Amino acid sequence: MAEITLDLSTVAKPAAYDQLHTHVASVLAGIDDDVAAMATISCLVHYAFGHLWTGFYRVVESGRLLRVGPYQGTLGCLEIAFGKGVCGTAAVERRTVIVPDVERFPGHITCDSRARSEIVVPVFGRDGSLQAVLDVDSEDLSRFDDVDAAGLERIVERFRGR
Ligand code: SME
Repeated sequence: MAEITLDLSTVAKPAAYDQLHTHVASVLAGIDDDVAAMATISCLVHYAFGHLWTGFYRVVESGRLLRVGPYQGTLGCLEIAFGKGVCGTAAVERRTVIVPDVERFPGHITCDSRARSEIVVPVFGRDGSLQAVLDVDSEDLSRFDDVDAAGLERIVERFRGR
């Protein structure tokens, strides 16, 4: 097992996500445990890029409620209703939502006032149902783009297909 936390902040994004995907697969090889996987992915994504907040909100009431799961960063809000904030929007729409400027997203939920941009990626389970969302916040405006969406979506594919 590769027991290091990679810093990929100086690597071009597509290559960084390729390395990160390989690293996550290596660290989690043989682990069939969603909490361990969410904790490990939060850590590796967070420190690879130096994000502000990186973590999961889990579906605890289908179509109704998300509750915080493993994360890295300052205190996250505990629960988010489907349809509320960026996380709840991604959950209802079952798609990745990129917010270049959180102040321009009506209903954005502020957990850390330093957050400027955000990406939320849906996490699907084996049966295709929504299991969680992966939320990543940055102190930089317009930090996230389609490369981040594709990279993060690839990383959370493991919850669908193990
Ligand atoms: N900003 C998110 C809430 C979660 S925190 O940022 C950790 C949202 O609007 O859904």
